[in-house]
Amino acid sequence: MGTKPPIEILNTLHKCAEIEGVLGKIYDLFADAYRENRDICRLFEKTAGEERNHEYQIRLAIKSLVPSIEAMTLTLEEADKHLTMAQETLDWLTKATPGIKEALNISITLEAKFSRFHMDTAARFADQSCAKLFTAMMAADEAHVAAMEKALAEVRRIDAALDRSK
Ligand SMILES: [Fe+2]
Ligand SMILES: [Fe+2]
Repeated sequence: MGTKPPIEILNTLHKCAEIEGVLGKIYDLFADAYRENRDICRLFEKTAGEERNHEYQIRLAIKSLVPSIEAMTLTLEEADKHLTMAQETLDWLTKATPGIKEALNISITLEAKFSRFHMDTAARFADQSCAKLFTAMMAADEAHVAAMEKALAEVRRIDAALDRSK
């Protein structure tokens, strides 16, 4: 059984939900900045939508599934620290939006850093059906880092071809 009082679980979940929201805003910003590149724009739009879905999953857990959470796999302090990190990233990206390659690299790094804050990994459920629900909701998202890595390889390939033709 978890030793943490439910209020700390709730606060931690709220931070996790906010993290997803900030990540969504980062991808919205990228989608908007690269409108002229249809594939890249769509990739970021899709990723932003996925982050909103992650946020929704956590809000759903906050509303109705907290009693079945046995323990959290992360602390409130960690969630708080990472939320600040995500917000600071959004702030500097808003001030100076990078080029497409850097944006993809940043996104891949963000995905690795923040995957721990998803509902399927952040909470341990007493009830297996809850755990399965979130695992199933995350399943659709698995190809998402792979898609960004593929897009980055494609942008690099086009750049190299352009360089050769100079
Ligand atoms: Fe996410
Ligand atoms: Fe993500």
